[in-house]
Amino acid sequence: MKIGIFDSGLGGLGVGLRIMDALPQYDYVYLGDTLRVPYGNRSQESIYRFTQEAVDYLFERGCLLVVLACNTASAEALRTIQQEHLPAHHPGKKVLGVLIPAAELAASTGRRIGVLATASSVRSGAWPREIHRVNPEPHVFQQSAPLLVPLVENDGFKWIEPILREYMQPLLAAQVDTIVLGCTHYLYLKAMAQKISPGSKIISPEELVPDCLADYLSRHDEIRTRLTTGRSSEFLLTDVTEGYVALARRLTGREIEFCQVDICK
Ligand code: DGL
Repeated sequence: MKIGIFDSGLGGLGVGLRIMDALPQYDYVYLGDTLRVPYGNRSQESIYRFTQEAVDYLFERGCLLVVLACNTASAEALRTIQQEHLPAHHPGKKVLGVLIPAAELAASTGRRIGVLATASSVRSGAWPREIHRVNPEPHVFQQSAPLLVPLVENDGFKWIEPILREYMQPLLAAQVDTIVLGCTHYLYLKAMAQKISPGSKIISPEELVPDCLADYLSRHDEIRTRLTTGRSSEFLLTDVTEGYVALARRLTGREIEFCQVDICK
């Protein structure tokens, strides 16, 4: 059985490819819901429904374990999927999220933590909750950045820097020592964020998730031993356009062949 990797669009590709490079022996399916991206400005109900549809689809397609390479889906849907949907509909299957490893690292190293995330991730309160679950001490300052995902998904990099600077201003004013890039689309903006805040430690999920997944698999034989090791990867989008194919090439530096799929119930 395979490992599924899901994001609302192309942002999670950066996480997915890092996982595939770090653990190349397994079989992977990447799914990006480009038809409905961005998720970050939507209601919790819609994000939950879209994420559940994606997870169900990946399980139907032969995945045993799904990584939500999307902080918004992790913030708004992960706990309910783990606690209610899986036991009722997919016993024995697993869903993990990218938010928790980044929150745990921030909690263990930061004292004044800035979180840059989508509007719905901020509204969910998941970042302060997961950081304070590990360590109640740090001050957490959240900033939503609703324009960044549409700009990344539309290859609008040349317009991003002044907007990112504006979004980061309240975090700089709060004198944060750590900035969490709390959306997988922002990993492509890491160098820009570091330039705007040279003194802060920047935490980005793609640096943590491959090791966390390797550690998880080493502790869960019941999952690891059921994963097939054909070294394959499929890349699925709910809408394939020339623009997405070109953007994926630009973001990743790789030629990726995408298939279009319908995941809506
Ligand atoms: N890349 C996603 C995240 O990590 C979601 C972005 C969006 O669809 O708004 O939050």
